[in-house]
Formats: sequence, C-alpha cells, structure tokens
Amino acid sequence: MVRHDAEHEAAAPYTRAFLTIYDAWVIRLSNRFAWQCDANVMLDLYNQHLGHRHLEVGPGSGWYLANTTATPGPAHITLMDLNPTPLSYTARRIEAADRVVESVCGSVLDPVPAEAGTGYDSVGINFVLHCVPGDFTKKGVAFRHLAHVLADDGVLFGSTILGRGQTPRTLFGRALTAVYSRVGAFNNRDDDRGELETALNEHFGEYSVTNTGDVSLFTARRPRR
Ligand SMILES: C[S@@+](CC[C@H](N)C(=O)[O-])C[C@H]1O[C@@H](n2cnc3c(N)ncnc32)[C@H](O)[C@@H]1O
Repeated sequence: MVRHDAEHEAAAPYTRAFLTIYDAWVIRLSNRFAWQCDANVMLDLYNQHLGHRHLEVGPGSGWYLANTTATPGPAHITLMDLNPTPLSYTARRIEAADRVVESVCGSVLDPVPAEAGTGYDSVGINFVLHCVPGDFTKKGVAFRHLAHVLADDGVLFGSTILGRGQTPRTLFGRALTAVYSRVGAFNNRDDDRGELETALNEHFGEYSVTNTGDVSLFTARRPRR
C-alpha cells in the first residue's frame, strides 16, 4: 500500500500543464545547468540504440522520441507509464503515417502488462528510475521486468541521477533535488552506482554505465530470463 502511494506520487507531477513546459524546463534548462548533462548526450543513446520495435518507459513529454535522428526510426513504439497523461501527450506528438504507436498503463515495479507483448528490439528508460521509490535493491526489479520483454539480441538503454555517494555538482541541482525529494517526485537518496550495477548484472549478461555530470547513462544487452 505504502509502495503504491509513493509510486503514484512520483508519477503525479506529469500533468498536461507541466508537460507543456517540460521541454523548456527539464530538457533545455535543468539537464544542462542543474545536472551538467546536455539533453543531446541522452539523445545520442536514442540515436544509437532505437530499434525497429521499441518500448519506451516513462516517456514524459516525448522529446527524445520526437527528436531522434535514428535511421530508420522505429516502426512500432509502445509507450508505458504509470500516469496516463504522458502516454496521450507523447502518442500525439510522435504519431506518423508509417509508425504504429501503442500505449499501456503500468509501473516498472510490476511486470510489463501482457498486452505490450515481448520481443522488443530496444527498451528506453530515461530519467525514470530516480523518480521510482526504493533503492536499487528494490527498484532494480524493473530490470527483471524489462529483460523479460527484450529480444535476445535487443538493447536496453537509459539514464538516471544517483543520490548516494554523489552530491549534485551545482547549487541549482542541489536545490532541485531538495524540492523534488520533498514533493515525492525524486526518490534517489539511496541510489548508488554499485547497486545499480549489481541490478543490471543480475538481469543482463552485458552492461555498461558511464557518467556525464550528475547523470549515469547505461546500456544493457543479453537479457537473463
Ligand atoms: C522525469 S520524467 C522522464 C521523462 C522522459 N523519459 C525524459 O527523459 O525526459 C519521468 C517519467 O516516468 C514516469 N514514471 C514515474 N514513475 C513511474 C513508474 N513507477 N512506472 C512507469 N513510469 C513512471 C512519469 O510519469 C514520467 O513520464
């Protein structure tokens, strides 16, 4: 019960009004000036790894999917979020004649809903895990659920802001962390790199974690099921 309250609290801020300013506030301003990681660094992950059939977890405003230059772009995208508003907002933004876009409501802490299917060529989970409650010994279960729906030769990629063993480098980042944690939008106080790597290693045969500014970027392959 407690878990579900904290989970919904973390996804609740993503209203239509917030998503309208999300690109300016998060993608352009906070990423660069609070976390010292330009959005283009994350966009590169999308450009490098987006596959034909893609699952996007926690799409927010959909900026990365709307701005990727991956060629060819995915022909089939499934969006998954605990909050239905980012689903409809992003689906409208990325719809295209040559692309199927589907949406499923669900949390990464639970198995991916059966209606989403399996065998994804790529799974993106960008800036979601620092929102999700629990440290990586608990929220790491997300990797098990996502490994289950990834194709044997597929790739999972994303990024997160860790909270233990690293203080945000900028005053802006420290202020955002304090405010977002107070309102339940950030739950990363106990997230550390060792436990992130342990969780990735538990569910994937191959993974990498790199850092740019305060952001840890990861990729993982060879799902263990
Ligand atoms: C900070 S936004 C990230 C948006 C986008 N991926 C980006 O990188 O800018 C977090 C997103 O994760 C979603 N979210 C939060 N908790 C979730 C959970 N437990 N399961 C699935 N999605 C969740 C939110 O609704 C929101 O769309």
